[in-house]
Amino acid sequence: MRAGDIGETVTVCGWVRTRRDHGGVIFVDLRDRSGIVQVVFKPDTAPEAHERAQAIRNEWVLVARGRLERRENDAVNPNLPTGEVEVLAEELRILNTATTPPFEIEDEVVIDEAVRLEHRIHDLRRPVMQRRLRTRHDLAQSLRAACCERGLIEIETPVLARATPEGARDFLVPSRVHPGSFYALPQSPQIMKQMLMVAGFDGYFQLARCFRDEDQRADRQLEFTQLDLELSFVGMDDVLELLEHITVRAFRDVLGVELARPFDRLDYREAMLRYGSDKPERRIELEIVELSDVLATSDFKVFSAALASGGVVRGLPIPEADALTRGDLDRLAETAKTFGAKGLAWVRVAADGSWQSPIAKFLTDDERSNISERAGLQPGHVILFGADREKVVCEVLGRLRLELGARLDRYDGRPWDTHFVVGFPLFEQTDDGKLTYMHMPFVAPLENEIDKLDTNPAEVIATHYDLVLNGVELGSGSLRNHRSDLQLRILAIMGYSEQEARDRFGFMLDALDAGAPPHGGFAFGFDRFALMLAGGQSLRDVIAFPKTQRAQDSFTRSPSRVDAAQLRELGLRLRE
Ligand code: AMO
Ligand code: AMP
Repeated sequence: MRAGDIGETVTVCGWVRTRRDHGGVIFVDLRDRSGIVQVVFKPDTAPEAHERAQAIRNEWVLVARGRLERRENDAVNPNLPTGEVEVLAEELRILNTATTPPFEIEDEVVIDEAVRLEHRIHDLRRPVMQRRLRTRHDLAQSLRAACCERGLIEIETPVLARATPEGARDFLVPSRVHPGSFYALPQSPQIMKQMLMVAGFDGYFQLARCFRDEDQRADRQLEFTQLDLELSFVGMDDVLELLEHITVRAFRDVLGVELARPFDRLDYREAMLRYGSDKPERRIELEIVELSDVLATSDFKVFSAALASGGVVRGLPIPEADALTRGDLDRLAETAKTFGAKGLAWVRVAADGSWQSPIAKFLTDDERSNISERAGLQPGHVILFGADREKVVCEVLGRLRLELGARLDRYDGRPWDTHFVVGFPLFEQTDDGKLTYMHMPFVAPLENEIDKLDTNPAEVIATHYDLVLNGVELGSGSLRNHRSDLQLRILAIMGYSEQEARDRFGFMLDALDAGAPPHGGFAFGFDRFALMLAGGQSLRDVIAFPKTQRAQDSFTRSPSRVDAAQLRELGLRLRE
């Protein structure tokens, strides 16, 4: 309803946002998912409707009919798309009354999230939430279209399933027909989509609900959605090209933004070294530097002890760091400890080039000049040191980098950074020194790394790839082992005897032997993608009925107790 529609007779349905009584004339702002329009009730033009309008309260549900008119000049609201027009009501029907809303249904109101979730329907009526879920819908349409355009077909896989190894805890569903047996809700459709490749479907996708019983965080939900896909007869380049196509199209369709192609491919080791993360926020201009070599003979016990036990020393230089006071640095050290650091050595380069630092006296002139050169230190810079096992140093300096980048606003100004991270190791060392899979047991090693499986398995590079968007892991995937001999070799390195492997993954291995084609795929975190495009604080802002941090739906109050008869039927008894 715009100025061009003036003179038309219209019918409007919606919820009352506000009602104002101006000396007998009643103004109602009526809201629906498309926006707000003003409806006017005048006693002389429509006495019956005006009479009824007097009772109206906020959030009542109305249908009104009337003529679209031009607002008087001083009543024009330039901030509203319908701000030039109003509906002069001739008829009014009240379709329903409504209880008083728990908070104002507006974008700007500040409401505690717990209250929003408890009163989710009111929260979802807020225009900002309507927009976010609309964006989520737009994204789903775009992703589907991109997959269909490339010939993938949509196939649903079971939700009542067998356990899938993605590394989280399973949700179990007891079987009534088979007392004592349980279905597992899928952590992802991984196994089933591989089966579909063996079955000859070639290209598959699904907007799949996944379930992982893990601790809730802003970027994790118990149940979430993936755009899951798998292709046969492909290499890494084929998959990455498709992922670029899907991502670029989504940005174009949903935001009208054109991303540059091809996306950079960053090596995992380089990402960990420079950014301390395998999902680097590259728009922050701070970078970590290696200092282990220049401090190899250092007498400073913090550094020498870390190096002697096989660890590393790295630095995070921060240019123009005058804003960081001594107190800030002390607080950063406390923060670093919460990230796992034992301490946080630092140096500030004064205007005259001298080093102000509690540790300066432990370093030789050579060491100082080598550090300066490696880190590009200049007057006004601060450098933070991490000395520990490599994993700890990456975690600590990586998270400090994010924190300082945000606090000191060291972003390069690009709205979007999309890149792949590739070159992940196949295995990861557990605390007791054993090797386990880094991502998933079915990931294939790079072809030219297979020989190393026997000699140096810890160093074997996998075909795994992640897609990173502005420092968020948007999705991940890999090529898979399509031959059972290679799959068994890899399971053996993780400590499975052939018998154990067959017990646990028997149907998978049999399927590979049934003529599995080379295949690989990917899963986008659909909720994360929607959050990036729609904006919001947490995944809960783009999920209609999310779970809270305490794993509850506070609107319907699940999980809930069940009655004894239901338990008996399932053959279950609760422990005291
Ligand atoms: P992965 O476990 O990395 O890979 O999951 C893929 C993507 O899903 C998103 N994601 C989540 N989003 C919200 N809440 C969660 N709890 C959650 N966990 C994961 C992330 C992640 O990158 N089967 C493989 C994919 C494959 O290899 O094809 C898999 O599930 O964005
Ligand atoms: P200490 O000798 O333990 O008092 O430490 C001297 C300085 O080194 C202090 O500024 C500590 O915060 C810092 N420090 C201690 N352990 C580490 C570590 N593992 N990495 C970086 N700095 C550290």
